[in-house]
Amino acid sequence: MISSPDRLFHILDPRQFSRPLLDELCALTTRVRSIAKAREGARALQTLLSNKRAMLYFTQPSTRTFLSFNNACHVLGIRTSEIRDPSISSEVKGESFEDSIRTFSSYVDVIIMRTWGEGMAAQSAALMDRIRRPVPIINAGSGKDQHPTQALLDIYTLERSFESRGGIDGKVIGLMGDLKRGRTARSLAYLMKSYSDVRLVFIAPEAFRMESPLKKHLSDNGIEFYETANLSEVISELDALYVTRLQVEYDTAEESKGYDHARFTVGLEQMKKLKADAIVMHPLPRGPELDPEVDSDPRAMYWRQERNGMWMRVALLVKIFGVENALGEFC
Ligand code: NCD
Repeated sequence: MISSPDRLFHILDPRQFSRPLLDELCALTTRVRSIAKAREGARALQTLLSNKRAMLYFTQPSTRTFLSFNNACHVLGIRTSEIRDPSISSEVKGESFEDSIRTFSSYVDVIIMRTWGEGMAAQSAALMDRIRRPVPIINAGSGKDQHPTQALLDIYTLERSFESRGGIDGKVIGLMGDLKRGRTARSLAYLMKSYSDVRLVFIAPEAFRMESPLKKHLSDNGIEFYETANLSEVISELDALYVTRLQVEYDTAEESKGYDHARFTVGLEQMKKLKADAIVMHPLPRGPELDPEVDSDPRAMYWRQERNGMWMRVALLVKIFGVENALGEFC
């Protein structure tokens, strides 16, 4: 099923989002969040999708994305079931991945999925599109490939942070770390095609640079980007610095060994050079690349970013199930 600006079904890839849809989702996020602040509103939200069930199929480690989706479902009254360990599912009896997904789909109304493998959410969505009772598939992280819902919450955080300064348009955004294997920075960069005059700065060692398909996409869409391995050369120009960790879990040999953490780290020293109104983001979990001393700096946005994530996911579920108009009755 194809997503159109006013209808959302599968969520697989950041490229499926247009600017009107991004703006709508950001506004919806703020709306549900404010409805939930009052006890009455929170109670009403709980009835909104109480006839729905969700399956969280998370076979790759996850803390915040799992909890964020799980709680987003509960905010809306959606009941959840989960598989986090494929060794206790029928896949160990030799059931194929597709048969497992088809089985889940017969019990629930949406499948939210995080996998080690790339393309598994897309494969599941293609399967759904062939069966009689398809349910939406939400990609909550597909290997090294994409993490579209993280990118949406990152967009929301950027838009809110720059609310009084014209939003994301015209900003300089630095993305730093393991850009080759990190899906969060890649998914966020793909979304930049929807914003005007954004300049991206990729800060990574040579061996961990953004890969060519993304760079081609940016060039094809007229988005300016600059690559460097030297944070201090660019830090004072940035409006946002998106820090990411080294993705050691994808090492097949000893790729991570040569990574010089000291050069791709943000601590108090680097914060002195960052603009007074710039922000620091991180998808978390963090490693040595983000010093906890930065946490108390008002420009540190990552805890707020994490909180924003749950509300963006609430908004997404509202939009997927097409109940956004019912919110009008709540306030
Ligand atoms: C990220 C992920 O899983 O890709 N975490 C998250 O979902 N917030 C980032 C990471 O693990 O580095």
